[in-house]
Amino acid sequence: MLHKTGLVLAFSVASVLAALHQGPTAEVLNKDYDFVVVGAGAGGGVMASRLTEDPLTRVLLIEAGGSDFENLNISVPGRSSTLPMSAFDWNFTTMAQPGLNNRPVGYPRGFVLGGSTALNQMVFSRGTKDDYDRWANVTGDDGWSFKNLLPFIFAVDRMTAPVDHHNTTGQFNPAIHKNGVVPISVEGFPLEINSRVIDTTRELAEQFPFNLDYNSGNTIGFGWTQNTIHDGHRVTSASSYLAQAINRPNLDVVVNTRVTKVVSVGREQGKPVFRGVEIAQSADGPVHSLKAKKEVILSAGSLKTPHILMLSGIGDAAHLTALGIKPVVNLPAVGQNLQDHVFLGNSWVANSTNTLDDLHRNSTLAAEALALWKINGTGPLGLGAASQFGWLRVPNATGFFRSLGVEDPSAGETSAHFEQIPTNAFVSKTVPLPAEGHFFSIITAVVSPTARGNVTLNSTNPFDAPLINPNLLGSPVDVAIMREAVKAARAFVTAPTWSDYIVSEFGVFANATTDDELEVYIRKNSDTVDHPVGTVAMGQGTNAPLDSQLRVKGTVGLRVVDASAFPFIPSGHTQGPTYILAERAAHLVRSSL
Ligand SMILES: Cc1cc2nc3c(=O)[nH]c(=O)nc-3n(C[C@H](O)[C@H](O)[C@H](O)COP(=O)(O)OP(=O)(O)OC[C@H]3O[C@@H](n4cnc5c(N)ncnc54)[C@H](O)[C@@H]3O)c2cc1C
Ligand SMILES: *[C@@H]1O[C@H](CO)[C@@H](O)[C@H](O)[C@H]1NC(C)=O
Ligand SMILES: *[C@@H]1O[C@H](CO)[C@@H](O)[C@H](O)[C@H]1NC(C)=O
Ligand SMILES: *[C@@H]1O[C@H](CO)[C@@H](O)[C@H](O)[C@H]1NC(C)=O
Ligand SMILES: *[C@@H]1O[C@H](CO)[C@@H](O)[C@H](O)[C@H]1NC(C)=O
Ligand SMILES: *[C@@H]1O[C@H](CO)[C@@H](O)[C@H](O)[C@H]1NC(C)=O
Ligand SMILES: *[C@@H]1O[C@H](CO)[C@@H](O)[C@H](O)[C@H]1NC(C)=O
Ligand SMILES: *[C@@H]1O[C@H](CO)[C@@H](O)[C@H](O)[C@H]1NC(C)=O
Ligand SMILES: *[C@@H]1O[C@H](CO)[C@@H](O)[C@H](O)[C@H]1NC(C)=O
Ligand SMILES: *[C@@H]1O[C@H](CO)[C@@H](O)[C@H](O)[C@H]1NC(C)=O
Ligand SMILES: *[C@@H]1O[C@H](CO)[C@@H](O)[C@H](O)[C@H]1NC(C)=O
Ligand SMILES: *[C@@H]1O[C@H](CO)[C@@H](O)[C@H](O)[C@H]1NC(C)=O
Repeated sequence: MLHKTGLVLAFSVASVLAALHQGPTAEVLNKDYDFVVVGAGAGGGVMASRLTEDPLTRVLLIEAGGSDFENLNISVPGRSSTLPMSAFDWNFTTMAQPGLNNRPVGYPRGFVLGGSTALNQMVFSRGTKDDYDRWANVTGDDGWSFKNLLPFIFAVDRMTAPVDHHNTTGQFNPAIHKNGVVPISVEGFPLEINSRVIDTTRELAEQFPFNLDYNSGNTIGFGWTQNTIHDGHRVTSASSYLAQAINRPNLDVVVNTRVTKVVSVGREQGKPVFRGVEIAQSADGPVHSLKAKKEVILSAGSLKTPHILMLSGIGDAAHLTALGIKPVVNLPAVGQNLQDHVFLGNSWVANSTNTLDDLHRNSTLAAEALALWKINGTGPLGLGAASQFGWLRVPNATGFFRSLGVEDPSAGETSAHFEQIPTNAFVSKTVPLPAEGHFFSIITAVVSPTARGNVTLNSTNPFDAPLINPNLLGSPVDVAIMREAVKAARAFVTAPTWSDYIVSEFGVFANATTDDELEVYIRKNSDTVDHPVGTVAMGQGTNAPLDSQLRVKGTVGLRVVDASAFPFIPSGHTQGPTYILAERAAHLVRSSL
């Protein structure tokens, strides 16, 4: 069975011949482009692909990382743990996080064609009706409402058969998936816990209701995950959006090349025209300049897009001046409003030997699994992070948040406060996998956080990392939500179906009982879900750097199309919303031509 699609094969072959440049070649430097897109992740992949559907529109896509997006470790879903701190990662670390007892945490970001879609855990979620309606509300642009976004939502995903071809009736709603660009699937390898999770939605239906398809606009309840996995292979923006565009003569892609700043090339309507970019391959290498005829589109992600803007004199004037950068456009909110989801693994000892723990301990077993995956993508290595999960609201939300002195931070009734991911193995970002034993875990995550962090400059060298402060658990409200999530995880395993499976709570979790003990446990063991967004948000007024069409305020010719543009973090995983935002952005750009 041949698993590479024709499109991907075409990319591999044609790329060597034509459109893929391993660096800034003379051909690229001397050509005219209408658009320069910076960054080939979720946002940039969509923009490059959609804009070049018009054969008269010439696009240059510039990616800092390399082109090896079909590397085995990227393609095999079950090897995603090898990707952070590898050749495909920017290797960022956050500042010390006060909410986590001053621990810094690793902050992986994709550095390869596909961007973070090549590094992520492959969960595909669209976000909720209320998440988007809130975007529409804060921007004053009804085009961002769930209802009006539907054509763009449907343009993104395409449901495909899982690799094991099991009967998927009752695992999603086929009616709400159309013929989009990104193939997705439910997991194709059965786990022992799956039937118990579904039993729980019957036995404790009031607290943990079944949800046939969390991508309907209402995530509340438990159901089967949908993943950016096709035939057991990871799907990235490179293997989907870019692959379908790469043979177009009007698209060039340059890799191993960083945009170090955007440059003003004149003035129009009294504003600086940011149609220029500077690029370099290393801190001491030559710097080249390029100009877009129409627009520069920043899709460098939530950490690098604000970084590039600030290095270019677009940001908080006082902050820039303090570093010796001449402010060109004073937009104090650039780099602010950083939002992320908080992650915590909670584990139980399982009465089973059939968990995924041994796969991470026994190299013979892992080699056997890889050999099977290579045959046809099946087996445990074809699995993403989760087969099922749930999204829940705290009970009596109005009263709960009023007692904490805040408004309900969720976007509305369709949006969760926390997420729960049952996992057939030990899960922790702070405690290593025990040498023996078999485990069941529930990852709990705060998905409607109130804390806000920021990205600021550490130096004026574009090859230095910015200072990254997601401010995880930086608000007592977020700790309270996590506490509810952990209590709900404990309630989950009280369903009768678990009585012969769950042996005991494992490790420090077992000792965290009172609210105070829970807070200590949570602060000591929480981490990030790797969903930073919001650092160059769209909205009205001076607290939003972008207008509702994603144009950088006070400039001409400069737009941002990536997760940094979100005004609020959706209550779901962020690649889906980034693809959706970019689909509408491409439409806005094409309508303006
Ligand atoms: C470990 C991990 C797990 C995740 N798990 C999930 C998940 O399961 N489900 C989910 O929905 N989301 C998940 N995410 C988040 C999701 O992948 C991101 O939200 C999404 O990819 C954001 O898209 P983006 O376009 O904003 O940025 P990215 O996809 O990060 O793309 C930005 C691109 O710009 C490039 N770039 C940056 N600076 C420059 C420069 N100066 N010049 C040129 N190029 C540059 C980068 O190299 C990168 O390729 C995860 C992310 C990570 C890292
Ligand atoms: C995959 O990751 C492993 C572990 O980090 C590493 O040893 C190996 O070289 C990587 N494989 C490829 C093809 O990059
Ligand atoms: C991240 O670290 C890996 C391993 O050391 C390295 O190969 C890679 O180049 C680093 N990434 C960047 C952007 O420097
Ligand atoms: C946003 O919502 C608030 C309260 O729900 C409402 O008062 C306001 O008019 C809305 N604004 C817009 C622009 O829709
Ligand atoms: C995959 O290959 C294995 C080993 O040859 C075989 O047992 C299995 O049936 C195959 N599965 C599919 C879905 O092709
Ligand atoms: C799949 O299962 C459903 C109900 O569980 C059944 O009605 C349907 O016939 C099955 N489909 C196939 C192809 O077996
Ligand atoms: C590791 O896995 C192999 C292959 O399944 C098995 O034969 C072996 O007994 C396992 N080793 C241990 C220590 O469990
Ligand atoms: C909801 O919470 C408020 C404030 O904590 C409390 O006064 C009220 O009794 C609660 N209502 C219910 C139905 O639990
Ligand atoms: C960044 O966020 C941290 C934590 O919230 C805060 O202490 C700091 O003042 C912020 N810095 C800027 C420049 O906004
Ligand atoms: C910030 O710059 C200082 C001085 O160069 C350096 O020591 C420090 O490691 C940098 N911080 C980060 C987070 O990169
Ligand atoms: C463990 O599971 C087996 C069946 O797999 C069952 O017979 C046994 O009673 C269970 N033990 C406990 C302590 O629940
Ligand atoms: C739990 O608390 C007990 C009593 O204080 C202590 O003996 C034990 O070591 C603790 N366990 C862990 C894993 O911290």
